[in-house]
Amino acid sequence: MTIAVRYQTRNGNTEAFANQIAAAVDAPAEKIDTPLPTDPVDVLFVGGGTYMMRPDKTLSAFMATLDAAKVKHIAFFTTSGGPETPTDKALTKLADEKGIPVIGHFHQMMGGKGMFGSKSVTLKPDQIQAVKTFAESMLTHN
Ligand SMILES: Cc1cc2nc3c(=O)[nH]c(=O)nc-3n(C[C@H](O)[C@H](O)[C@H](O)COP(=O)(O)O)c2cc1C
Repeated sequence: MTIAVRYQTRNGNTEAFANQIAAAVDAPAEKIDTPLPTDPVDVLFVGGGTYMMRPDKTLSAFMATLDAAKVKHIAFFTTSGGPETPTDKALTKLADEKGIPVIGHFHQMMGGKGMFGSKSVTLKPDQIQAVKTFAESMLTHN
C-alpha cells in the first residue's frame, strides 16, 4: 500500500498534525512542493490551514495538479482558528472535480494558537490521539 502525506502550513499548526499522521502511517510528512511517489498512491493525506475563510492558494494549486489515475483516495486534515471548515469544503470540491474519492476529513479548531507566527507547535495528548485514530482508520481503504 502506497501512502503519502502532503501539507501546507504558514504557522506550524497543520504541520504538527502532519507529523503525527506520518508517524501513525509510516510515511514521511512532506510539504506540497515535494513530488508524489511515482507509484499510484492508495491514500494521500492532504493538510492545510484556513486563511480568510479559504485554503492557501498554493494548496488549491496543488489539488489542481492531482491525477485520479495516480491518487486513489484522499483524506483531508485541516486546521482553523474557528469552528467552521471552509478549507475542507473547498478542498473536497476540488477533489470531487478531479474524480478522486475523499475517504475522510479531520478538522481541528486551534483558537488563537499559531496566529502570531509560532512555528513550533506542541499538540495536546487528546489532539494527538484523535489524529492518530483518524490516520489509522484511513488505512482500511485500498
Ligand atoms: C492570515 C490568517 C488568516 C486566518 N483566517 C482564518 C479564518 O478565516 N478562519 C479561521 O477559522 N481561522 C483563520 N485563521 C487561523 C488559522 O486557520 C489557524 O491558525 C490554522 O491552524 C493555521 O494553520 P497553520 O499554522 O498550519 O498555518 C487565520 C490565520 C491567519 C494567519
